[in-house]
Amino acid sequence: MKEHDRLFTELKEDFRIQKMSQYIQHGKVSTYDHCCRVADLSSRINRRLRLHADEETLLKGAMLHDYYLYDWHEKDGGTHRLHGFRHPEKAARNADRDFGIDARTEHVIQSHMWPLTLRHMPRSREAWIVCLADKYVSLLETLFER
Ligand SMILES: [Fe+2]
Ligand SMILES: [Fe+2]
Repeated sequence: MKEHDRLFTELKEDFRIQKMSQYIQHGKVSTYDHCCRVADLSSRINRRLRLHADEETLLKGAMLHDYYLYDWHEKDGGTHRLHGFRHPEKAARNADRDFGIDARTEHVIQSHMWPLTLRHMPRSREAWIVCLADKYVSLLETLFER
């Protein structure tokens, strides 16, 4: 628990992760706040349901799952048109470049949009938790924080 909180704080305070504050995720919510919420909910699901997912993989995967670092609402000639399908790949690449993530964390990021990205189905507890937490948080943000 102590270790979990220490790591969560460290991630939230990282200047690279804080760059996500510049981008809007849904409605009025920044990508940074969105990722903090997904990480927080993922941890609570893990604890409440006693799923024994690896806390480091879960927290890093959740905090970096949308680490794609661009505004997908920007009109830019269609480069972001396939955002839904492509951003997990981009986020995983950025995360590896900046943090040197392991394969389990990469998998959490790559599979969070499933079933949209059909080929990347969650295959670990951590990936399932983040995939579901992201959908729940995104739905609430879309409905109530416009
Ligand atoms: Fe995403
Ligand atoms: Fe997300």
